[in-house]
Amino acid sequence: MTEVTLRPITTDDLPALFENQYDPASAAMAGVPSKEEADFYAHRERVEANPDNVTRAVVVDGELAGDVVSWADEGGRHVGYRIAQRFWGRGIATTALQLFLKEITERPLNADLLRSNVGSRRVLEKNGFRLLAPSEEPIDREPDSYYFCLD
Ligand SMILES: CC(C)(COP(=O)(O)OP(=O)(O)OC[C@H]1O[C@@H](n2cnc3c(N)ncnc32)[C@H](O)[C@@H]1OP(=O)(O)O)[C@@H](O)C(=O)NCCC(=O)NCCS
Repeated sequence: MTEVTLRPITTDDLPALFENQYDPASAAMAGVPSKEEADFYAHRERVEANPDNVTRAVVVDGELAGDVVSWADEGGRHVGYRIAQRFWGRGIATTALQLFLKEITERPLNADLLRSNVGSRRVLEKNGFRLLAPSEEPIDREPDSYYFCLD
């Protein structure tokens, strides 16, 4: 049986996490342009330097499969995740988010995604997130995005 665990991200994980976000299919799904190497490493440094951020490596049977992250801004606390393509469709993101929600206990917890990102929507729904009503969406909402929250 597949074992999914979370642990802090180490510098050894960064080349694989760089490749994950560089995958065109993954970038298109998330709607987030891939970063080139220098940008990616500078971004990681900024992320790890901010104590409001929580980042975890997703490990599947001992192998790095992706990451889950949480950050806070004026819109509240948010969560995001990315799994390497070769692990897709095995319930990894669903389990990783379930584990992460035990660590990130602040509510509401927000997640937004492209309307086309059916897989990510299912990951959120299976973890109890609900689609926000239009009146609850952020003022700067993107028309091609859905906004979810865990109350
Ligand atoms: C979205 C993503 C995290 C899903 O990861 P995953 O480990 O494959 O997800 P799971 O296996 O836990 O699947 C969860 C559900 O979504 C469905 N699903 C997953 N990918 C899907 C796809 N491309 N199209 C339709 N359904 C999909 C699964 O069938 C499952 O639903 P079910 O239990 O009702 O059958 C992964 O594809 C990914 O990292 N994509 C690129 C980055 C990204 O989009 N991150 C989210 C940004 S909002």
